[in-house]
Amino acid sequence: MKRLYIETVGCQMNVLDSEMVVASLRKQGFELESELSAADVILFNTCSVREQAENKTYSALGRLRSFKKQHPEKIIGVMGCMAQKDQKLVFERAPYVDLVVGPGQLSRIPDLLGDIAAGKGPQMAVGLGRKDGTVDEIKRSHETFDPLRDPAMRPTPFQAYLRIQIGCDKFCTYCIVPMTRGPEQGRDPEQILAEARILADQGCKEITLIGQTVNSYKHKSGGKTTRLSDLLYSLHEIDGIERLKFVTNYPKDMTDDLLEAVATLRKCSPYLHVPAQSGSNEVLARMKRGYTVEDYRETMARIRARLPHAAVTSDFIVGFCGETDEDFQKTYDLVAECRFKNSFIFKYSERPGTKGAELYPDDVPFEVKNRRNNELLELQNRISEQENQPLLGQRVEVLVEGVSERTKRHGEDQGDLVQLTGRTACDRIVVFEGNTRLTGQIIPVAIYDLSPHTLFGAVVTEHVGPSLQPIMA
Ligand code: SAH
Ligand code: SF4
Ligand code: F3S
Repeated sequence: MKRLYIETVGCQMNVLDSEMVVASLRKQGFELESELSAADVILFNTCSVREQAENKTYSALGRLRSFKKQHPEKIIGVMGCMAQKDQKLVFERAPYVDLVVGPGQLSRIPDLLGDIAAGKGPQMAVGLGRKDGTVDEIKRSHETFDPLRDPAMRPTPFQAYLRIQIGCDKFCTYCIVPMTRGPEQGRDPEQILAEARILADQGCKEITLIGQTVNSYKHKSGGKTTRLSDLLYSLHEIDGIERLKFVTNYPKDMTDDLLEAVATLRKCSPYLHVPAQSGSNEVLARMKRGYTVEDYRETMARIRARLPHAAVTSDFIVGFCGETDEDFQKTYDLVAECRFKNSFIFKYSERPGTKGAELYPDDVPFEVKNRRNNELLELQNRISEQENQPLLGQRVEVLVEGVSERTKRHGEDQGDLVQLTGRTACDRIVVFEGNTRLTGQIIPVAIYDLSPHTLFGAVVTEHVGPSLQPIMA
């Protein structure tokens, strides 16, 4: 029995990729190991979206220098977006790395590990650059391998990510993803549905469809075009699936057919992640986001009109090249106006290889980025808390994910009831006391307290609970 240790950073794509790699290595007789030092193969699934993510990986690799000297037989591999972006540079910065594999070559990991074990030396397999071949060649070199599913690797067996789209063609000037993940490709709807049925058979209740611009999804075959809304109608038919979510949306592609599907389909969560990135038209233009703040407002108005109870969340980058105090004020005003359930706020990080790095100097000082980040976060936290207020005293439906972080820290051995955590359909985190047997069930919880990012509640049992119908939250 060989032992595998894997560390994953980055977005949902990486979480899913790690699941796939673990599944394929289990088939080769590997067992998952939680202690790095006890493993035979150590894999890092990496992210390049900000410099900090890369630095973390290189530091982790740096700490393995002497370990590898003492244990030369152990195999160290770097996979994912940073492997694709840095390629040979990984070997230069950490010469004891044995394996570098891009997101499009993950299916080759078992063979490449075999080659390394057979003494063939370090191995590298990466996809083509965006100008290094015909469109078809480039696309093929970035294809992922999705049909393998291993319920044991998922954070919870009743929840799963399902990739419907690979890559990205939007080329926002700050972003490295189109280079690391290659051209946008919508997966075949038949494959997606087959995978969803397998997941449902395995007991999966919640599926989150993932793609960099998931609502731009399109697949053409036999003269028919399938959109995300069409997929949702088909997935809704699958017995066992209780919740459908999808991330991340591109504001310009938030079409009425999609809003209609979310409004109509009971299983579709009214939860929409629609990153705005900035509230200033000048900044949006330099970012090449393809919309103005007026367009974004129009999208929000349509969402609010068709889905009045939807939770909308966003991403923002502060301190992008040339961002003035006035630009930032416009972002601040947009956040105040849109009342997002939550926003992820990032300080701009220049990425070599992007148009942004080539065209615009990274000229906003770190302290200014930091201040803007904190100001925006403070505003968003206030809004998040206010938006949670109406849920006080209400009954919400929660998919129980398992024991809370507090319970994990203090141990479970505290009697029958432990602190559990779960999520509402709108992706609100709920913490409450209950028996671990509830894990994986969708149950009613009455909310009695809240903070910006957490609701606190009590499980509603039929005979003591209020006879309220659960509200959509
Ligand atoms: N495809 C998604 C998300 C891509 S990455 C989308 O289009 O929204 C997730 C988030 O990271 C982005 O929404 C953006 O806010 C942030 N991000 C991307 N590149 C960045 C960079 N160079 N510096 C800081 N934040 C960045
Ligand atoms: Fe990056 Fe823009 Fe594509 Fe999102 S849409 S992955 S931010 S290039
Ligand atoms: Fe990072 Fe790659 Fe995702 S760069 S955010 S892991 S697509």
